[in-house]
Amino acid sequence: MHANLDLEQTIDGWNLEFTSNARKPLEDLRGYSTESLEWLMMEHYQFSFRNTVFLREAAATTGGFDTAAVKKELTRNYNEESGHAAMYRAALKKVGSDVETRVEFAPTSRFLESVGALCSRDPSFVLGMMFATETAAIFEHQVFKAVSLEVVARRACGKAGDALIHFHQMHLDGVEQSHKDELGIFLRGIFADQVSVPKDGARPTLRPQLVLEGGRQAVELMKTWWNHLFEELYAQNISLAKTA
Ligand SMILES: [Fe+2]
Ligand SMILES: [Fe+2]
Repeated sequence: MHANLDLEQTIDGWNLEFTSNARKPLEDLRGYSTESLEWLMMEHYQFSFRNTVFLREAAATTGGFDTAAVKKELTRNYNEESGHAAMYRAALKKVGSDVETRVEFAPTSRFLESVGALCSRDPSFVLGMMFATETAAIFEHQVFKAVSLEVVARRACGKAGDALIHFHQMHLDGVEQSHKDELGIFLRGIFADQVSVPKDGARPTLRPQLVLEGGRQAVELMKTWWNHLFEELYAQNISLAKTA
């Protein structure tokens, strides 16, 4: 006997709730200054910059599982992502956004530190956590593709904006879906009413409650981070309205 939703569906549900809410403030970008949208892109770049470190650490932690499949997938993901931050930085520069000029935003630092600290927890926990962040990556690239299109249009970048749009589009053309699905297969058909589920083929022995805890904590961290991003986005646009 078990609950209706397996681990994959449960974490997907939490993510869907988070991303549907976080999409709302960005549905209509016209009210935001170009500078504030640029600021938002630069904060997202920080995650891209740190992402490979997270993947490397998560791969190492999941080396503690009794099969190599999760570590193998995270290593594949790591290899695919290395080089992406440099690509993102160069693409941003082409539209006039220099990440080197960014001023540190404390909530982003706290978010990245917290995610980093979780990467060395229990392998089951890390699997749940990485599954959650890969699911959210699809949302992020959708949102930031829209933000990029807006900034590129306002600055009349023309062809110079292509690399930035392409950067997000390439992630949406299967890269992130595959990162999510290749982790999701380990969670499919596994339910939280068992303390431990013995390994089956490539799937390692899992501790379902820890998987869910990892997914839950990752979603909570992302929610908090995005709430801070929106607070600051609003603040930047209120002060703009006042000085106008
Ligand atoms: Fe990437
Ligand atoms: Fe990814």
